[in-house]
Amino acid sequence: MSELFKAFVIDKSDSNVQLEVQEITKDFLPDADVLIKVHYSGINYKDGLASQSNGKIVSTYPFIPGVDLAGQVVQSKDRRFEKGDYVIATSYDIGVSHYGGYSEYASIPADWILPLPKSLSSGLTLKESMILGTAGFTSALSIQRLEEHGLSIDDGPVVVTGATGGVGSLAVAMLAKRGYEVIASTGKESEHDFLKSLGASKVISREELYDGTLKSLASQRWAAAIDPVGGKPLASLLSQIKSGGSVAVSGLTAGGSVPTTVYPFILRGVNLLGIDSVFTPMSVRKQIWHRLSTDLKPNNIDSFIAKEIRLDDLPTTLPNILDGNIRGRVLINVNS
Ligand SMILES: NC(=O)c1ccc[n+]([C@@H]2O[C@H](COP(=O)([O-])OP(=O)(O)OC[C@H]3O[C@@H](n4cnc5c(N)ncnc54)[C@H](OP(=O)(O)O)[C@@H]3O)[C@@H](O)[C@H]2O)c1
Repeated sequence: MSELFKAFVIDKSDSNVQLEVQEITKDFLPDADVLIKVHYSGINYKDGLASQSNGKIVSTYPFIPGVDLAGQVVQSKDRRFEKGDYVIATSYDIGVSHYGGYSEYASIPADWILPLPKSLSSGLTLKESMILGTAGFTSALSIQRLEEHGLSIDDGPVVVTGATGGVGSLAVAMLAKRGYEVIASTGKESEHDFLKSLGASKVISREELYDGTLKSLASQRWAAAIDPVGGKPLASLLSQIKSGGSVAVSGLTAGGSVPTTVYPFILRGVNLLGIDSVFTPMSVRKQIWHRLSTDLKPNNIDSFIAKEIRLDDLPTTLPNILDGNIRGRVLINVNS
């Protein structure tokens, strides 16, 4: 395949990054097992960091970011995949040290690729899989880990922080679909109705969870929490979890340092569960994508699209994800 195609390329000279859509050929891509015609990708927080000169995501330039991609196999050197297969590839080194999804074609190791889940009752389209993307995968993995640690719908309210973000908004909808009482915590007063429409029974401000003061133990309010925010708010959240409850922590939009004490852990048996979507083993990954296409598939999945953009829009849109002002997910229709 010698044709020219479009890719969003980040380059760096001195300490400045340049973001532009370029025309490249397949020779620009790594030589991996499977060549995929990319149909959709999405924007994750990590992709925003990849666009920054000091984002600490990309180490070698030029680089094609995009942690997530979904598309159709064009060529395969691996017996597990054939031309025409619909596939998803997310995480591992994709968009970090291996060229990612912001390109009309991607060359990906077969071990990182998964067939698009299909089921008689539901299933996913390529577009739906990228509305979910790594954010949705992380929300679903968080729910699975909480349930493995004993969470059930009779235990009481489950709080979701950063609730209008990608991980948060999808977690709210998935928990509500499962029948949990969901409390959404957000910094955006204007989005309370949106969060209720996703199934939150109550919406609270960030300050109601963390008002600037930290206690070792506070009133026991939540059976569990899904937390993509981290930082001091996580320390406060831990002090409010009921005995035996768990927090699934995936992110750090409020910071990487968590000034907690041992008391929630040794006096209430609280569990802090780390969520890592990147190196989730393939067997678990398949289970989670199956759940994303069945019991955890959000209703009205299109309502999570904050906007649908083209590759050409990435230079201006990508850095904005870091402002925390986007509601839901930005979808990239690679061939539009
Ligand atoms: N561990 C993993 O495998 C994994 C996978 C995916 C993402 N992540 C991480 O999870 C986090 C969220 O990712 P995302 O894709 O959901 O990002 P996102 O769409 O940008 O959402 C982040 C949300 O966090 C809240 N927020 C932002 N700044 C905050 C602050 N200073 N204090 C408190 N809340 C703040 C905002 O929600 P409100 O305005 O509603 O409060 C914002 O919408 C990131 O740190 C990302 O790197 C980790």
